Amino acid sequence: MLMNRFAPTTAIDRLVLPLDVPNVDAARTLVAATNGRVGVYKIGMELQFAGGLDYACELAGDGHKVFLDVKLLDIDNTVTQAVKNIAKMGMTFVTIHAYPKTMRAAVEALREADAPDLCLLGVTVLTSMSEDDLAAAGYRGPVANLVEARALDARTAGMGGIVCAATEADRMRAILGDDMVIVTPGIRPAGSAAGDQRRVMTPADAIRAGSDYLVVGRPISKAADPAAAADAVVTEIAAAL
Ligand code: C5P
Repeated sequence: MLMNRFAPTTAIDRLVLPLDVPNVDAARTLVAATNGRVGVYKIGMELQFAGGLDYACELAGDGHKVFLDVKLLDIDNTVTQAVKNIAKMGMTFVTIHAYPKTMRAAVEALREADAPDLCLLGVTVLTSMSEDDLAAAGYRGPVANLVEARALDARTAGMGGIVCAATEADRMRAILGDDMVIVTPGIRPAGSAAGDQRRVMTPADAIRAGSDYLVVGRPISKAADPAAAADAVVTEIAAAL
């Protein structure tokens, strides 16, 4: 049982829908189609560069939980000031790349900003990265080792949770314990296309592995009926709980 104050309560709470669409109009359409069927809306880079930051504040103002997937990584002072400004936006989750120094700066900024309702998530290793991709980027050793080291660094820094592949969730739960949120993208209901994701899992298996929040994008947003696709994922989550 998760002890973290950001713990989800219902199956719907656990479903995170990324608004990975080209503009705010398309985001509004997707939100209208899935309203009440999704726990958290995630705004990532695509929409951030097309009016998504204002829209994130609007969604939060309307009472939605919003996940600002900004994946911060910069010098400490810049991260500190960014987190202080993000803390004023009414967001529920924000992502920071899981570099120890960067996470320490973010945690300290959040403490100073006195924003207890904002959960800082450390991005361990992107779920689109394979072992070969990491080797090409200069990292040695298995992906799992890097994910584990970064998760432990996130805990040491005082982060609220981590983002990792669902295939790593059971190991992460074992080493992190019950007081950090585990968020897993790379979720693919049976029969849906993996696309560019590499380390994928079904919603039910991700829940059984100990994941708290499942990020399910294209299987919902590209479905002919996004509402039905979201409901199907929630039903699968509920059955696995
Ligand atoms: O469409 P799909 O389900 O692959 O969307 C996954 C979402 O999760 C995207 O918005 C992507 O940016 C995000 N994400 C990820 N892997 C991470 C962190 C975030 O896929 N490690």
